[in-house]
Amino acid sequence: MLTIRPPSDIVPSEITPREQYLTRREFIAHAAMGSAAALIGTGIGTAQAEQVSGRIEGYRAAAPIGEEATPFKDASSYNNYYEFSTDKYSPAGMAGRLKTRPWQVQVDGEVAKPRTFGIEDLLKLPQQERIYRMRCVEGWSMVIPWIGFEFSQLAQLVQPTANAKYVEFITAQQDTMPGIRMSILDWPYAEGLRIDEAMHPLTLLTVGMYGQLLPNQNGAPVRLVVPWKYGFKSAKSLVRIRFTSKQPGTAWNKAAANEYGFYSNVNPQVDHPRWSQATERRIGEFRKRPTLMFNGYADQVAGLYTGMDLNKNF
Ligand code: MTE
Repeated sequence: MLTIRPPSDIVPSEITPREQYLTRREFIAHAAMGSAAALIGTGIGTAQAEQVSGRIEGYRAAAPIGEEATPFKDASSYNNYYEFSTDKYSPAGMAGRLKTRPWQVQVDGEVAKPRTFGIEDLLKLPQQERIYRMRCVEGWSMVIPWIGFEFSQLAQLVQPTANAKYVEFITAQQDTMPGIRMSILDWPYAEGLRIDEAMHPLTLLTVGMYGQLLPNQNGAPVRLVVPWKYGFKSAKSLVRIRFTSKQPGTAWNKAAANEYGFYSNVNPQVDHPRWSQATERRIGEFRKRPTLMFNGYADQVAGLYTGMDLNKNF
């Protein structure tokens, strides 16, 4: 029989036990969901009972950035997650079915020490909060307090070889995802970075946001965040990270190479072929605001692109 059990994968020292973070009413609601699932036996109810949520404790908090964070409610209910739906309001409900435990991330390719990490290994790494702007290529943006660790920390554990020039990020395909039965993209959703972009201190692997484990719709249980690039580079629900000698193909570039380049740096001077990128709508604001070069991170990252024609390498 299916019962509600505390998620076994969570490190107790890092995450408050379920009973402590759920209010009594919520806990009863969750428990009720579990017994309904037990009766039904299959379907959404069952999968929702598997969902892993909880507060993350002991991470290093971020310094404020002088911009207000987008309300959690908006960041967790207006999502692009095409494996579930092309509609932005649907993943919040549908991704409840995503099975995030057990979860493994295979890290291999051009590395001296290939290794498969369980999500519990990644949760044990020292976590820090980073408040980042996120600019979607569609022209909207948010400010999100992520919790995670620098990608370079993971790289250190597998020791990339001198042949590692790029990193490919491959995401989950599950039968919980109705979208992958449609040929919108070449599944699995995959992204790529040049090795120096991946190793840049701003590039994060995140396991949480707003002090909590990532909601499924935001890319649980582990997701890439590259704040100076359009949001689609920040691949959700990673299952494999491959260091490569050649530039990997990426899902959106394969779908429309003239619209979505490999680099996809936020750049108000290079328009999308079908719309301007000069301005953006911050979720929660009425007026559009100017889009910033490299999404406001130019001081940190412009040097990665010295001498490159950013019109050509869009
Ligand atoms: N990752 C996967 N696996 N599937 C997706 O559809 N959408 C991308 C990116 N990562 C996407 C993905 C796009 S277009 C954006 S804008 C961001 O996720 C949205 O992240 P959010 O829902 O957390 O705001």
